[in-house]
Amino acid sequence: MMPSLGAPISALAPLVLDAVPQRTSNAPKGSKESNSSAVPAASSTRGAKLFERDCARCHGANGDGNSQIRGTLHPQPLDLASFQISNAYALQVLHNGVPGSDMPAWHVSPEKDLRDEAAYTSHLAKPVVLSEQDRYAPPDALVEAGKRVYDAHCERCHGMSGNGDGPDARKYRPRPASFAGMRPSFEGAQHVIQNGVAGTAMPSWPLLTPPEIQAVTFYVRTFYNDGTASRSSTAATSARTGAQP
Ligand code: HEC
Ligand code: HEC
Repeated sequence: MMPSLGAPISALAPLVLDAVPQRTSNAPKGSKESNSSAVPAASSTRGAKLFERDCARCHGANGDGNSQIRGTLHPQPLDLASFQISNAYALQVLHNGVPGSDMPAWHVSPEKDLRDEAAYTSHLAKPVVLSEQDRYAPPDALVEAGKRVYDAHCERCHGMSGNGDGPDARKYRPRPASFAGMRPSFEGAQHVIQNGVAGTAMPSWPLLTPPEIQAVTFYVRTFYNDGTASRSSTAATSARTGAQP
């Protein structure tokens, strides 16, 4: 049985959501929205140039994954702007790559370049807005219902704390995503949940209803902690099959 959303709203569940996703700023790319560690304009311009040099051929000029070689990549990169990617996580991905995917580790690049590229990447996120009318229930009810969906269907891969370290995680490469360093937007999550990620263990979920997808997205978004915990760091100790540049 699919968990249903009909449950009564509970008064518990302190919201870990960094507010109801209500980022109203239309700040241009490369400018800072809500974090305190603002990146000086100069280095984000530098980051943009480096992104164009090193990343655009696979990720597309604006990071949306629409590059010419997209079809040849394993897996096809998701739209980076549909995730809030923490600076620390992006840097960690650049150091280690994503083993088992075509995302390479950048061992030869100077650390300064990687830092600017990571900062640039963490600024690509599109503002996430979900109006009250688009919500199926109040946020705390969604988080609670989302936890039930998650525990039933997602935990075995993505892990109890969303770090990508569930009991089945080790079977798969690339490893299940960690939500600690990458927080999906509602649109981005919906796309992935409905379609899966071809060429990876991430399946599509045709039986989840739109309210369940929204609920599990609310829940998954609570795992984001701006930190470095990641699938790559657990994977880095075992076989590394990621391509090197
Ligand atoms: C050779 C192609 C290629 C290049 C060059 C490349 N990437 Fe990637 N990247 C990928 C692929 C493929 C994925 C998808 C990996 C996955 O979903 O398992 C990815 C995923 C990512 C992710 C998400 C990681 C995750 O855990 O899902 C980030 C962040 C990223 N790339 C940043 C960059 C940056 C910044 C650069 C430039 C320094 C770059 N990439 C260059 C192919 C590339
Ligand atoms: C069999 C293992 C498995 C199960 C079960 C699973 N996933 Fe995944 N998931 C993965 C893998 C592997 C990836 C990484 C795909 C890639 O490399 O691009 C992933 C990626 C994702 C992503 C995109 C990456 C990100 O950082 O946000 C989302 C969102 C996601 N999963 C949500 C879910 C949800 C919600 C469920 C439960 C309904 C679920 N997954 C169940 C294996 C799984």
